[in-house]
Amino acid sequence: MRAIVVSRHGGPEVLELQDAPAPEPGAGQLLVGVEAIGVNYRDIYEREGGGTHAAQTPHGAGVEGAGTVTAVGEGVERFAPGDRVAWSNAPGSYAEQVLVADDAAVPLPDGISSELSAAAMLQGTTAHYLATSTYPIADGDTVLVHAAAGGVGLLLTQIAKRRGGRVIATTSSDEKAELARGAGADETIGYDGFGDHARELTGGEGVHAVYDGIGATTFDESLSALRPRGYMVLYGAASGPPPPVEIAKLNAASLFLTRPTLTHYGREGEELRTRSADLLEWIAAGELDVRIGGRYPLEDAARAQADLASRATTGKLILTP
Ligand SMILES: NC(=O)c1ccc[n+]([C@@H]2O[C@H](COP(=O)([O-])OP(=O)(O)OC[C@H]3O[C@@H](n4cnc5c(N)ncnc54)[C@H](OP(=O)(O)O)[C@@H]3O)[C@@H](O)[C@H]2O)c1
Repeated sequence: MRAIVVSRHGGPEVLELQDAPAPEPGAGQLLVGVEAIGVNYRDIYEREGGGTHAAQTPHGAGVEGAGTVTAVGEGVERFAPGDRVAWSNAPGSYAEQVLVADDAAVPLPDGISSELSAAAMLQGTTAHYLATSTYPIADGDTVLVHAAAGGVGLLLTQIAKRRGGRVIATTSSDEKAELARGAGADETIGYDGFGDHARELTGGEGVHAVYDGIGATTFDESLSALRPRGYMVLYGAASGPPPPVEIAKLNAASLFLTRPTLTHYGREGEELRTRSADLLEWIAAGELDVRIGGRYPLEDAARAQADLASRATTGKLILTP
């Protein structure tokens, strides 16, 4: 089978298309014929090496996808060959076949395509936990969502609106601002002076929470956009990690600071099943729009990752094996 392997840490050029024997499912594992693969920042961090997403090389690229079970290992009771599943934590997902742990797989209802399911798993469960658990948005709250036309951003904006929140969205272009408004954003602003703009738009009070997946270039100003006792939710580092934080900056307005990751909010097990059941139900009911911003053949994985990091994309990027 064909698979994309990270031969050594580095830029997109280290991604190699290789032919490998199909893996055998061990105890508690499913072998899945992959139909759609999600491209994520995690894949880029793991390719680059270092930081919080260190992964040994060589390793199979990618963690997210959807497809059909072809064989199951010993002790698997929840799935059988022929079942359609999706997942957000199966290393080696940039491939024609992948092993998925029983506990990391979610059954797919009829009528939802593999492409949409793959697109919704990692960014969708992230948007879900950010809006419902990390800072649970309450009716009438105002929140600031950075990069609102991105994969997580478009989903987070829609879920925030479902919960009765008012969303101030940052984007870097008019086209992206229009997409954010389409997802329900009440106000769209650029990055220049976004802290002051967010204050003006809240009558000087500041927002209840900032969801910041950008990091280095936005972190400090995000703190200044918060009202007293507001929540700074730093969930990613698309522009690089922010510098160390002076605790006194939180003291200035009794702020909360958290750096959540999906690992602790439902990448597997019951929490994954609950969150993904919500997402799949909303998608099936036409209440959650999952935007596919780009499709690439498996062999173009390097181009897909380079495009995601280039800031030029919107919504979700999908690889097709
Ligand atoms: N903690 C978790 O559990 C978790 C899970 C999934 C993803 N994440 C994080 O969520 C963030 C968003 O992920 P995503 O896959 O949905 O990506 P994305 O938002 O589709 O892409 C990143 C966006 O960030 C903005 N951006 C601002 N400055 C940038 C820069 N210097 N370089 C690149 N992009 C920049 C761009 O939007 P504008 O052009 O509009 O500024 C860009 O499109 C990433 O940091 C990722 O690591 C975290």
